[in-house]
Amino acid sequence: MFGTFRGPMFVFTLAAAVAAVYLASSTDFIDVETYEPSPAVKSTVERCAVCHGAAGRSNDSRVPHLRAQNEDYLINQLRRFAQPGEADPPSPILRDLNAMRARRSRVMEAHAAGLDDGLIHGVARYYTELPCETESRAAASEPPAGLAWCNDCHAPAKVKDFSNVPSLNGQPADYLEAQLLAFKAVLAKAADGREDARFHHFMSRSVSTISDARIREVAEYFSQQACTR
Ligand code: HEC
Ligand code: HEC
Repeated sequence: MFGTFRGPMFVFTLAAAVAAVYLASSTDFIDVETYEPSPAVKSTVERCAVCHGAAGRSNDSRVPHLRAQNEDYLINQLRRFAQPGEADPPSPILRDLNAMRARRSRVMEAHAAGLDDGLIHGVARYYTELPCETESRAAASEPPAGLAWCNDCHAPAKVKDFSNVPSLNGQPADYLEAQLLAFKAVLAKAADGREDARFHHFMSRSVSTISDARIREVAEYFSQQACTR
């Protein structure tokens, strides 16, 4: 008798264990009430606030807001700035571009220098926990014609599911436009040696066919959307 139940029960227990691990790693299950940044994180984010704002809301249209941004996304970006060469697995395209790094920013490399992985996780978590603004905006309700597919990944519901995809809603239009132009420029010319550059296997290819005027339109569309968590 026992033998007939053993198999299915084992499978059930294994499935429950896998589900428990998955759920435990989901940000939905973070207890926001008890989150307390360490002293090292607090003193680090004081420096960051000079540009990114006190509550992760920047007042400069060229600087991104960090509040309520996806945790894994922030970790990826900070590793690229702080630990060049370690964050991105080698890809054939990167090798073609003389192993160009996935993201370069002179300003951010200076400020992220010296952040170790523990601090990077702590700082990312700190910003992920900050609320985004809730005021309603006069927003364009539809993405520019032909670009609705951006929301296949960047719509709030998708961003919630995919922690390495950034939320774009409410980010300054100038910042979003600059990033899109950087993704595009990478494939248009040899980018090694540039001080500011950005490559992503999907984003770079997908924006390479969009005109600069349309890039501005889609940047404005996302900047007008209310930020959600
Ligand atoms: C002198 C101003 C300045 C300071 C100080 C600064 N940043 Fe930045 N940060 C920027 C700018 C400008 C960018 C956009 C870089 C680019 O164009 O790629 C940026 C980008 C970022 C990004 C990428 C966000 C995204 O949406 O892709 C992260 C993460 C970040 N900064 C975190 C930090 C942290 C953490 C600190 C403190 C240790 C910090 N920054 C300090 C100016 C600053
Ligand atoms: C298949 C999923 C996917 C689609 C579709 C997609 N993106 Fe992205 N996008 C990403 C990922 C992943 C990143 C993060 C790249 C990285 O880690 O550097 C990103 C990054 C970005 C960034 C940089 C944000 C920041 O904070 O620096 C912008 C801007 C952006 N996407 C705009 C768009 C636009 C506009 C479209 C439509 C034309 C689009 N994306 C379509 C996955 C997608």
